[in-house]
Amino acid sequence: MPGLLYFLMQTMFKRIKNIYVVVNNFRGNQLNEDYYLYTKKLFRRWAPLYNIIEIFAYMVRTQVVDFINIKHGSKILDIATGTGKQAFAFAKKGYDVVGIDLSEDMLRVAKKTNKYANVEFKNADATNNPFDDNYFDVTCISLALHDMPISIRKKVLSEMVRVTKTTGIIVVIDYALPNNKIKKHLIYRFIKFYESKYYPDFIKYDLHALLQESGIQIEKELYVMFGAGIIIKGKKK
Ligand SMILES: C[S@@+](CC[C@H](N)C(=O)[O-])C[C@H]1O[C@@H](n2cnc3c(N)ncnc32)[C@H](O)[C@@H]1O
Repeated sequence: MPGLLYFLMQTMFKRIKNIYVVVNNFRGNQLNEDYYLYTKKLFRRWAPLYNIIEIFAYMVRTQVVDFINIKHGSKILDIATGTGKQAFAFAKKGYDVVGIDLSEDMLRVAKKTNKYANVEFKNADATNNPFDDNYFDVTCISLALHDMPISIRKKVLSEMVRVTKTTGIIVVIDYALPNNKIKKHLIYRFIKFYESKYYPDFIKYDLHALLQESGIQIEKELYVMFGAGIIIKGKKK
């Protein structure tokens, strides 16, 4: 009798576990589907306006190039390149750049405004990017991690680590918040007003810890835009 009871309990637990796995997979896929649809729709709307608003980040583009100080002849991957503004800042200095993005609408603007022969753009998903391991001297993600849910952010960062050479550089540029309480509150409210729905979660999350967990060793960082942005230079651990 105890044996039968044990068998029944075990079967019941297995069934519950299976249901739990199925439901979780479904929720995971649903989240990703929602993210892909949401992102494509969001940037379809932003694409014609993006280069006007991006004036706020204009100075940061060259600051990034100067701050990370890359060796001559480097191959750079600009992840989630959007309209290609950061990619152009690298190309202007003579580096060979590949920009990838999910949104064909953003890429259309990038291709239309491109005046450099050393940049190319590809439509690709940064969670599964189409390059070999250890391929790039530099991988960069600029103002895009905040447009992703945490599960996607983790995948994108691990892909960056994969395609960056062992001796390469990993660059992350994104929002930050200053320490001053009033400035912090105002900047947060302002950015939340126009940003994607993933921004509040992104800004609460510890970016430094996330990079470390993803296998990136932070070498140096620079706060920009009055503390509302940060440039982080790192390498593979
Ligand atoms: C705010 S824009 C930033 C564009 C550009 N990096 C810049 O600095 O201006 C965010 C970009 O991330 C892209 N994106 C979001 N998720 C992506 C993914 N999984 N793979 C590739 N691109 C992605 C969006 O399509 C959008 O163009």
